[in-house]
Amino acid sequence: MNHKYRKTVIAANWKMNKTPTETRTFGAEFRRILPRGRWCEIVLCMPAICIPAGVKAMRDTRVNIGAENMYHETFGAFTGEISAPMLVDAGVKYVILGHSERRAMGETDADINKKLIAALEAGLTPILCVGESLEQRKSGVTFEHITMQLKLDFQNIQPEQLRRIVVAYEPIWAIGTGLTATPEEAEEVCQHIRTVIRKLSSAKTARATSILYGGSMNGDNAAQLLAQPDIDGGLIGGASLDPEKFVKIINAANQDAE
Ligand code: PGA
Repeated sequence: MNHKYRKTVIAANWKMNKTPTETRTFGAEFRRILPRGRWCEIVLCMPAICIPAGVKAMRDTRVNIGAENMYHETFGAFTGEISAPMLVDAGVKYVILGHSERRAMGETDADINKKLIAALEAGLTPILCVGESLEQRKSGVTFEHITMQLKLDFQNIQPEQLRRIVVAYEPIWAIGTGLTATPEEAEEVCQHIRTVIRKLSSAKTARATSILYGGSMNGDNAAQLLAQPDIDGGLIGGASLDPEKFVKIINAANQDAE
């Protein structure tokens, strides 16, 4: 983390978990145990159907609500899709884009690029996910793969807009598996991501970009991961479903807040 230049962001990714009723229950408990005082930026990304309950439950707190996906068009004949302006109107501030679980369902970098542009246009903060598979790691192409994802996802995005994107490094082999990248492995890739952003924009933008780690982050390993200079927060799946477990990670991020 580097509090001088960029925000520390701790974001939950609930995936396809929790009903609106369970969102209210989580919200009541989370509010009760939320650390006071020095806070990192906290985001709860949840299923679209839970967003109204989430927004209501977190009213008058500094907790932001995020979506897990969106469509790039603003409105029209796209049955089942949700647009960026709809999310904004519902009180959403962040949106996860390009999660590996969505890429596995067929989302391409070209799709993600269009979504990023639409999200920025609407005033949302995108959390762009990139990461390599186990095969890619084993064959030594991790850096090349991530460079390619960033180049394609960032196409035609102006440098001043790039600054508003949060990037999450999520090695696919570490997601939901209990296998966490070591702090050194995660740092190496996050540092590489910052270098790519510097080349695509400027040193100033690269320095100001929050880069998160995601993949089996929990209350026990968060502090070590967050102690790395280029890891500015976390995107948390499993451990974000329980308010107490999630607060443990927030406490780890608040630890050395200045
Ligand atoms: P996990 O998920 O924390 O359950 O590994 C992270 C993610 O997919 O964002």
